[in-house]
Amino acid sequence: MKRVGMIGAGIIGGHIVRRALAEEAFLVAFVVERDEAKARELGVPYRPARPGGPYPVDLVVEAAEPSALKEHALAVLAETDLLPFSLTAFADPEFEEAILKVGRRCRTRIRIPHGAIVGLDGLWDARAILTQVRVTSTKPPHAFGRADTARTVFYEGPARQACRAYPRNVNVHAAAALCGIGFDRTVSTLIADPDCRTLQHFIEAKAGGVDFSVRVASRSTGGVTGWYTPESAYQTVKRLCAEGGPGMRLA
Ligand SMILES: NC(=O)c1ccc[n+]([C@@H]2O[C@H](COP(=O)([O-])OP(=O)(O)OC[C@H]3O[C@@H](n4cnc5c(N)ncnc54)[C@H](O)[C@@H]3O)[C@@H](O)[C@H]2O)c1
Repeated sequence: MKRVGMIGAGIIGGHIVRRALAEEAFLVAFVVERDEAKARELGVPYRPARPGGPYPVDLVVEAAEPSALKEHALAVLAETDLLPFSLTAFADPEFEEAILKVGRRCRTRIRIPHGAIVGLDGLWDARAILTQVRVTSTKPPHAFGRADTARTVFYEGPARQACRAYPRNVNVHAAAALCGIGFDRTVSTLIADPDCRTLQHFIEAKAGGVDFSVRVASRSTGGVTGWYTPESAYQTVKRLCAEGGPGMRLA
């Protein structure tokens, strides 16, 4: 049975652990958590939230926050593969460069989860011919930490700045940038709409001779994460443990 290590056991991480235990899909070897009580409730080996390994597993799943990904990623990739959910961290070019270097040296892989959206495989496969990618996210104002009383387009520009300004809210933009034409060419639009009841993402991609779009609307789980993501995250880990699957080969 494949061994998986978790960093973060909140909405996404906790769901992955509970589903894995129920289905015996893979072995959860450890959970790194800042909140010890929350982690211990899951009944799997607990590790305090300190950077550094060892990571004696087939895959480490990060579902904490961008700073946690930055703390652990290099040490993880020196040993094994990594499935990060806090993808906005990659908008920092120094971090991305350091990751690529260690991944190449150690022949380990970063797997990019589709997370809150669908269709990343199509973007990835079109990346050599794509000319334009736009990602528009529309959410209730509070989901962006705002208090607008009318529909407000409050950001339009490169995905890189959107990721820096809203690191907890625009992982979909980071995923599209990583799998498509990068953080500087991907155009992000962020809309706060008090009449919006769901977290909505709309990806439009254009290439010579083809264009396609993907829309996902998900109820909020209460925090930054939509209804679809925890289960999609679990199924991604399960699929990677079973057979590999889509991902980003660094070496
Ligand atoms: N890729 C996607 O499509 C996608 C979708 C939704 C959320 N996310 C991102 O995934 C991450 C997890 O989301 P969530 O809804 O499960 O969040 P959450 O707040 O429910 O859980 C995060 C957990 O990580 C723990 N944590 C925070 N910093 C830590 C650290 N340094 N070390 C160890 N544990 C730490 C917290 O105590 C918490 O239990 C967030 O960064 C979120 O923005 C990505």
